[in-house]
Amino acid sequence: MSQPIISFRDAVKEFPGRGGRRRARRSAPAVRAVDGVTLDIAAGEIFGVIGYSGAGKSTLVRLVNALETTTAGSVVVDGTDLTGLSEARLRPVRAGIGMIFQQFNLLRSRTVAGNVAYPLEVAGWSRTDRDARVAELLAFVGIADKAAAYPSALSGGQKQRVGIARALATNPKILLADEATSALDPETTADVLALLQRVNRELGITVVVITHEMEVVRSICHRVAVMERGRVVELGDAYRVFSAPQQPVTRRFVASALRDQPSPAVLDRLRGRHPGRIVTVRVDEVSGSSAQVMEVLADRGVHGTIVYGGITEVAERPYGSLTLELSGDDAAVHAALAGLRAVTSVVDHGTAALPVTEGSDR
Ligand SMILES: Nc1ncnc2c1ncn2[C@@H]1O[C@H](COP(=O)(O)OP(=O)(O)OP(=O)(O)O)[C@@H](O)[C@H]1O
Ligand SMILES: [Mg+2]
Repeated sequence: MSQPIISFRDAVKEFPGRGGRRRARRSAPAVRAVDGVTLDIAAGEIFGVIGYSGAGKSTLVRLVNALETTTAGSVVVDGTDLTGLSEARLRPVRAGIGMIFQQFNLLRSRTVAGNVAYPLEVAGWSRTDRDARVAELLAFVGIADKAAAYPSALSGGQKQRVGIARALATNPKILLADEATSALDPETTADVLALLQRVNRELGITVVVITHEMEVVRSICHRVAVMERGRVVELGDAYRVFSAPQQPVTRRFVASALRDQPSPAVLDRLRGRHPGRIVTVRVDEVSGSSAQVMEVLADRGVHGTIVYGGITEVAERPYGSLTLELSGDDAAVHAALAGLRAVTSVVDHGTAALPVTEGSDR
């Protein structure tokens, strides 16, 4: 991994227990939103933090731009240890970090151009420099024609483009995106994710994406940390995490992003329509390609019909599964199954007459 730009070391963030002072005196339990996180985010990567609601994702990234301070442990951002820094010393660190939000947080009384100019005004840029920078940013995010419009006249996707332009205004090295696409429809989400990918590739900005949607991780993240109850429970290359999830929470996320495997209800319907042997085979970079699968079947004289499944990309590499109905004589189907197992992982669902319930390997 290249040089880390963000390093957490045993970082803890505790909030005092809810309730008034009297409750506190009776020691209402504190909430450990972040509970001992050690993590390096490399300069130049798109890093995903995924977890269900309350896992501590927002708190973790709020430690990065010092909107929160650690209770214990440390956070180092671009070489500066934030622990115990004064407000004055934190200001330049914050200036090197852009942030975008689920609800966009645009100023309603300002035009699109006015919103993007705002951080430049705060930073003391001259009028001429601001105008030039705003024009450049609006062109980059693809909404130059909306410069004079007010946020109320924009779609969600356009609002988030303004949010991104504003976050990039002062040339940050890091962009934090907290559920930046959660309020958007799937198509608009894909457009905004593609824009974040350009921000990363063309501007070299490190992007930290917080999400509860594995789809977001699948489409743009290089690496991912899975959070549960304030802790990082799984960490690694996005492709590796998708293809071999270790934790139950990760398996749930993966299943939600790749609807390539038939659910029990779908399997029942498949069995109703297809009397032959039904199997699900994994298709990815390391195990079988679909061509290999078809070759095995042809070699054994077995006819395979694809009845369900899909192949998609995870971190820009092929991944998915195909569910096939195998027909042929019993011995041939048996040999074909053994042949498939030699090239990839296989889940045998049996036949309508003799169903098999095998634990899926994912
Ligand atoms: N300012 C605060 N005061 C007290 N408790 C807080 C505060 N901020 C967060 N928490 C608590 O810390 C835990 C983690 O919250 P956090 O917002 O980081 O989760 P999250 O993973 O971002 O969730 P979501 O997906 O719902 O945004 C929760 O139990 C939350 O109630
Ligand atoms: Mg959150």
